[in-house]
Amino acid sequence: MSTNNRAGGMKDILEELQERRARARMGGGEKRREAQHAKGKLAARERLELLLDEGSFEEYDMFVEHRCVDFGMADKRIPGDGVVTGCGAINGRPVYVFAKDFSVFGGSLSETHAQKIVKIQEAAIRNGAPLIGLFDAGGARIQEGVASLAGYADIFLQNVLASGVVPQLSVIMGPCAGGDVYSPAMTDFIFMVKDTSYMYVTGPDVVKTVTNEIVDHEGLGGASVHTKKSGVADGAFENDFEALIQMRRLIDFLPLSNRERPPVWPSYDDPDRIDESLDKLVPENPNTPYDMKELIARVADEGDVFEVAPDYGANIVTSFIRLEGSTVGVVANQPMTLAGVLDIDASRKAARFVRFCDAFNIPLLTFVDVPGFLPGTRQEYGGLIKHGAKLLFAYAEATVPKVTVITRKAYGGAYDVMSSKHIRGDVNYAWPTAQIAVMGPKGAAEIIFRQDADDPEKMAEHVKEYEDRFANPFVAAQRGYLDDVIQPHSTRRRVIRSLRTLRNKQQSNPWKKHDNIPL
Ligand code: HXC
Repeated sequence: MSTNNRAGGMKDILEELQERRARARMGGGEKRREAQHAKGKLAARERLELLLDEGSFEEYDMFVEHRCVDFGMADKRIPGDGVVTGCGAINGRPVYVFAKDFSVFGGSLSETHAQKIVKIQEAAIRNGAPLIGLFDAGGARIQEGVASLAGYADIFLQNVLASGVVPQLSVIMGPCAGGDVYSPAMTDFIFMVKDTSYMYVTGPDVVKTVTNEIVDHEGLGGASVHTKKSGVADGAFENDFEALIQMRRLIDFLPLSNRERPPVWPSYDDPDRIDESLDKLVPENPNTPYDMKELIARVADEGDVFEVAPDYGANIVTSFIRLEGSTVGVVANQPMTLAGVLDIDASRKAARFVRFCDAFNIPLLTFVDVPGFLPGTRQEYGGLIKHGAKLLFAYAEATVPKVTVITRKAYGGAYDVMSSKHIRGDVNYAWPTAQIAVMGPKGAAEIIFRQDADDPEKMAEHVKEYEDRFANPFVAAQRGYLDDVIQPHSTRRRVIRSLRTLRNKQQSNPWKKHDNIPL
């Protein structure tokens, strides 16, 4: 009799658990989920299913409810409280995740909602695994007032503590406004979904009241604004599915934490592979552009390249590739855009990328073809000096292996900045087409031989003279500023060999609390 009773009781308890779980998984209910789908967006748990390996998601805190009793909230409780949190795996490697659930109070942030996020932020730091946040929310839970603001600050603090310890990634998949923007802003990479996501500190209504400007969500903070104009986001994708698949791809390049090296995946690409087409990549006319991305793809294992922020500061390319299966961060001037010049946007973008790689033990490969810094009042008024210094600073402080290949121009201060020998480049190569000089031969001749400015014949001779003297890699090679002048076709082989020898590189900077990079 008593056994039967226990069996019945146990069954009820198990059923109740199932029911509670089912209720939590419903989030804000079928109608709100349909509304989400109608906007072209997936629901929070559907997104996590796509992001994580099948069946790997371990959800935490699904029974958490808010504690607010104001404004009729006492009888409006939905388990989970607007955010789905937990851990899972991406290609077998652990990650912590949270996904805002717009169907529950618009995904808005309450005190308990914040506590759920902080719990997994702390776990990610302690256990050394990346943290990925999926954003789709209406900001602070208006009914909760200052408790919500406190919750945001608790999350921000953890973002800062986690910075440089574990990779932090954000995907913006709906509204992301007010308090919600600063957490992603402090993460390493931000992806956005085209047309359905937007990010701003204050929305169009406030903008109109304060500044009289009329602008819509998309024009103020859509994916195109942030991936092309502001540089806040690093990638814009067609829909939820594509954004999440690309996030899986990015994670595959990254180490789990700063305590690890990047992962090594199987590679079938011969490390000694020669590419004859590279011998013809640089055009004869030094002012004719060519596509630096072709060089990156031809050097990479299997031609697999993950480019970061392709549409912002396109005059510099920042991408992840693999060599012998292991991640390498590539920074490369792009002659196809603004002749590959360094300007404010390019300097900021590349500096941040270099620092990310250095923080996470990812070696740096730099391809140089740079005519210098961009002249002009717009650049100077915008603080080019400070922004250019960021890139210089980032390269100089970096202690990861640094391999540099100058393909063509390396002029002026930009030569120094682009991972030169002088700022601790480990192995510095040049192609025979390299020209390393204070400036281009024409500009140089016009200054040194100003007295012959009106005599085109003499000037042509002077230009030739300067070209013969400096427009080659050998003056730098004679001084040991280059370790070798290499055949373009052997670039992959030479870079791989260098990185092999640098695998156990040890270098440290003088003790300091932290540096004071010119922000
Ligand atoms: C509580 C919220 C909410 C919020 C949305 N909801 N935002 N509940 N607090 N902040 C609720 C709505 O009441 C609604 O509930 C449901 O979520 C869906 O919202 P809709 O407005 O119907 O959706 P939509 O038309 O798609 O518009 C989305 C939106 C809009 C643009 C995000 O909801 C909005 O403007 N929300 C307020 C945004 C805001 O001002 N947040 C505060 C920012 S200040 P029902 O029950 O009807 O489904 C801030 C300061 C923090 O964040 C600073 C910290 C540093």
